[in-house]
Amino acid sequence: MAKRKSAVRVRDEDRYSINDEEIITRHFANLIRLLKEEEAAEEKRFQTDILDRKPEDREKGGKALLWLELYSQHYTPAGQKLLSFGYSGGRWLPRYSLDVGDVVALSAPGLAREDRCRGTVYEKNRKEIVAAFQARLPAWVGRENTYHLNKEENKTTYERMQEAVRDAGHARHGQVARLRNISLGLKKPDFGDPVDAKRLSFFDTRLNDSQKKAVISAMEAKDVFLIHGPPGTGKTSVLLEMIRQARHAGQSVLVSAPSNAACDHLVNSLIEAGEPVTRFGNPARITERLRKHTFSYKLVENSLARQIEKNETEIERLFKQNDRRRERGANSWDDEKALREQIHALRDDNRALKSEIFHQVWKESDVVVATHTVSGDPLITSRTFDWVILDEAGQATEPASWIPMRRAGKVIMAGDHCQLPPTVISPKTGRESLCYTLFERFHDVLQASFKIRLEVQYRMHETIMGFSSREFYEKKLTAHAQNRGHLLADLKGVQAGEETKTPFVFLDTAGLGFEEKEEEGTSSRFNEEEARLVARLYADLVKAGVRPSQIGIISPYKAQVKCLHQLILGNISEDVEGQEIPEIDSVDAFQGREKEAILVALVRSNLKGDIGFLSDTRRMNVALTRAKRQLIVVGDSATISILPFYKDFIRYAETVQAYRSA
Ligand SMILES: Nc1ncnc2c1ncn2[C@@H]1O[C@H](COP(=O)(O)OP(=O)(O)OP(=O)(O)O)[C@@H](O)[C@H]1O
Ligand SMILES: [Mg+2]
Repeated sequence: MAKRKSAVRVRDEDRYSINDEEIITRHFANLIRLLKEEEAAEEKRFQTDILDRKPEDREKGGKALLWLELYSQHYTPAGQKLLSFGYSGGRWLPRYSLDVGDVVALSAPGLAREDRCRGTVYEKNRKEIVAAFQARLPAWVGRENTYHLNKEENKTTYERMQEAVRDAGHARHGQVARLRNISLGLKKPDFGDPVDAKRLSFFDTRLNDSQKKAVISAMEAKDVFLIHGPPGTGKTSVLLEMIRQARHAGQSVLVSAPSNAACDHLVNSLIEAGEPVTRFGNPARITERLRKHTFSYKLVENSLARQIEKNETEIERLFKQNDRRRERGANSWDDEKALREQIHALRDDNRALKSEIFHQVWKESDVVVATHTVSGDPLITSRTFDWVILDEAGQATEPASWIPMRRAGKVIMAGDHCQLPPTVISPKTGRESLCYTLFERFHDVLQASFKIRLEVQYRMHETIMGFSSREFYEKKLTAHAQNRGHLLADLKGVQAGEETKTPFVFLDTAGLGFEEKEEEGTSSRFNEEEARLVARLYADLVKAGVRPSQIGIISPYKAQVKCLHQLILGNISEDVEGQEIPEIDSVDAFQGREKEAILVALVRSNLKGDIGFLSDTRRMNVALTRAKRQLIVVGDSATISILPFYKDFIRYAETVQAYRSA
């Protein structure tokens, strides 16, 4: 730590030495610079991938849909306007990669660039794409015969990160300054009053001693506490317990994670535990089933909202009545005046009601869940929370983490630096780059009493766990007795047989002539033969009685996810309540989650031994640790074993008799 020189401030909390000031200024100036570089790299990529291309090429690359017909317009309960587009005659749309949650620009042939309006993809299938817009749309929308949708850049994230970094860097006093100084090793964190462990009753009675200790230490911590550990060791479960303890003690909590998938997972777990929670975010980016827990839906569902609707209807009736009278020439000046007053009164009433609803919903939102970016929403930044809890903290860059952290009383982070790192385009690595997360920084500066490592995992069969434990955790990960030997065959309704009694299989497709292909316009890959094989394996599991919802199908490549989706689900959209479907998604979307059975499609199969981003072994660590009772990995050993990691993986499969030729 830097040697302290003369103090420039008097109050103890606000005391900085010149050296401290220098460290702070240098660090935050560096973060701003890194952010600018990253933004420029992303802009450049956007320019070459999208803007520099002709519209037709953009469409071929899946980043645009042209010559669409406007099918319908309607409002969501949250007041967004939904516009649905497709080809005339209901023809199939080409393969496209405008995903739910992506920002799109709506335009029409011949329309000036500045007249375009920005919306968000809300729903999609092969014949129709629905985009959500702010309620007021320009007059040309609805009048044109054909429309174009183009992928747009999303600038909000950078703006919010920059603002957060500036705030954290400039803070002179208060908790933000304190947390910042702790993160830079300039101050030591504190514990508050001890919690009487004997009198504390846990909501989750399953928690083991280390997990309980984590909960208690977090409750005692005044500034910061860290939970780290390998997959399945209960990091998220411990966070959920803390949230429940905090809420029942009347404290407020902001829960944040870098991805919508991880936030949805937290919301889902809280709801299953019977805890009220308010999810912030664009409903288009939130799993349909969970949308009713969003702030905007709660506003609409409030009992007072019906009175607003009644008042609106009454206002409309009064206007019509007045028009009729006027047509008959039966309107006196007094009548007009009385009517105006009535309408004014109703409008005032509605304004008051809206503000009342807003306050009611906000007041009842003790537990708020939002991604890091959304936690920079002005509504959230208008308040502070007793706790800020960050899950998947190893996946967030430092600037992103500061967005929710600015609202904190105390901060609790959970993560694992051997799982997915932050998504950063710039090639820089190491401590001076955005890859060095705030979670790692805290981990490096905090004393042992401010962090805990969990080591017993409650998810995987021990054979599924074995490779990850060896490769990433120095063989220290252990499986609890309850899950050490659990198999699909032990599940209710599942037939016992070879395929349900095997916890782990590596299915080698080498020599079969399976061919990877590059998706036109994106650098993503797919492998149709491999996808067909995975679809067959999936069907076998279902035939053996495993429920589709107990199965996850994962690929590191988005194009393969699309291909698998199409093969297995056809045009069924995900997430319809009550529908039994498997989940098919990218590795990134599965971080933090689990399924009874997981099928992993590795895609890469070529003579050059080119394995692209399969070489990011931390992504593979996530993929290989999502299964509870069965993990099947399908891949081409000849291609992937170019990397020693996969050689080890195949050797491990052979050692545990899990190797099969497809
Ligand atoms: N003490 C426990 N007893 C029984 N089951 C537990 C216990 N702790 C956690 N679990 C279960 O273990 C599984 C994994 O837990 P959890 O998702 O909290 O782990 P995690 O450390 O957050 O994993 P990841 O690193 O993948 O995010 C879950 O099904 C959870 O309910
Ligand atoms: Mg977790």
